[in-house]
Amino acid sequence: MTAPASGDSTTHEKSPFPLPEGWVWGVAGSAHQTEGNNDANDWWRFEHEEGTGAVEPSGIACDSWNRWEEDLDLVKGAGLDSYRTSLEWSRIEPAEGEFSAPALAHYRRMLEGTRQRGLTATLALHHFTLPLWLADQGGWESPRAVEFFARYCATVVESLGDLIDIVLTINEPNVVAMTGYLDGRFPPRVSGAPERWAHVTHTLVAAHVAAREILKRESPHIRVGLALAIPDIIFHPDGQWAPDGMHMSELPTAGPGAEFAAMTLGVFLKAARDDDFIGANTYDSQHMGPDGNPLPTPDGERITQMGWTYAPEAVGYSVRLAAHETGRPVIITENGVGTENDEERIEYLQRALASVARALADGIEIHGYYVWSLIDNFEWTDGYRPKFGLVAVDRTTMERRPKPSLAWYASVVAASRADSSRV
Ligand code: BGC
Repeated sequence: MTAPASGDSTTHEKSPFPLPEGWVWGVAGSAHQTEGNNDANDWWRFEHEEGTGAVEPSGIACDSWNRWEEDLDLVKGAGLDSYRTSLEWSRIEPAEGEFSAPALAHYRRMLEGTRQRGLTATLALHHFTLPLWLADQGGWESPRAVEFFARYCATVVESLGDLIDIVLTINEPNVVAMTGYLDGRFPPRVSGAPERWAHVTHTLVAAHVAAREILKRESPHIRVGLALAIPDIIFHPDGQWAPDGMHMSELPTAGPGAEFAAMTLGVFLKAARDDDFIGANTYDSQHMGPDGNPLPTPDGERITQMGWTYAPEAVGYSVRLAAHETGRPVIITENGVGTENDEERIEYLQRALASVARALADGIEIHGYYVWSLIDNFEWTDGYRPKFGLVAVDRTTMERRPKPSLAWYASVVAASRADSSRV
């Protein structure tokens, strides 16, 4: 397996925009989706239960627990600046209050390897999974959840803080609350419980704030934020689906979905006003009718493997919303598309970057861009079918096979640097 070096990639792209100072080009993944055998968390249990809707268990995932060096070599080989992944809480604290020295040593080696390759380490401290011991006490509903999360964060920063550059305290807390307590698609599989949803939402905000305080106090060099799922929400007051309409980024506090948006996004965006940046994870446009309910995508519209609208320009809207609502710089912490067709992925990323260029030209402060994902990985309830990766993984041998989109991305990155050095 060899990764294309940025210099010898076959495609020759133009820079999508003049690089703002300090810009970070990255690629992302997460612990449970790539490491394999994370059997002490709530997702592992959920994957093995009947009737959860999970199509297959994560199993060995991409074996990144053992192959992290190969993953980092791919990132380095493509000439990128940064790799984003997460730490698996259930490995670090497999039993309540018992921290695993071998797990912390493993992550230390991985972070040293990141640094040795000249890459920025961006880590989420929570990416969807909870240790079983906490899930069994009610997870984010436990009265001690914030205290437990804060203690875990304190251990992480004490053991690893010197090697971490950027922290996302919690990845997509809005998705955790909604899928856990409103639609019940993800653990703990509670549906239609708005009061519990609201309670967990506020707990997640408190957990983020507690983590941020610890991180900033103990390791002030770390840039701290959270990553929110920020789709481009488009309102259609007449109830008729159309490719375009009124984007929520254009009317942040009004519109029929405003109340829902306040709970799914607003409280987190408000909390992020004291962060170093706001992370935006964006994939699609979501269309809403006058009552705030989603409008079904009409037959014949282009959709992705996830069934989401194919909307590369969505990210250009979400960064505007994130910046306006927080006043903080934005890092695009996830953007990409689930597709078997790698040319479609290149088209998506190219159009997405063009929409980022327009936002930058309009004065939106954006500090970086992470493609989701480096490698094809475990896509939660959808298992291994959706393909978000710039690199394929042979599910039998675990061999990494770079797709043309990795060379394409390397070429964009190289061109952007060449152009910036001429300025
Ligand atoms: C999550 C990722 C996931 C991606 C694509 C985001 O919601 O952070 O874990 O793989 O979307 O569904």
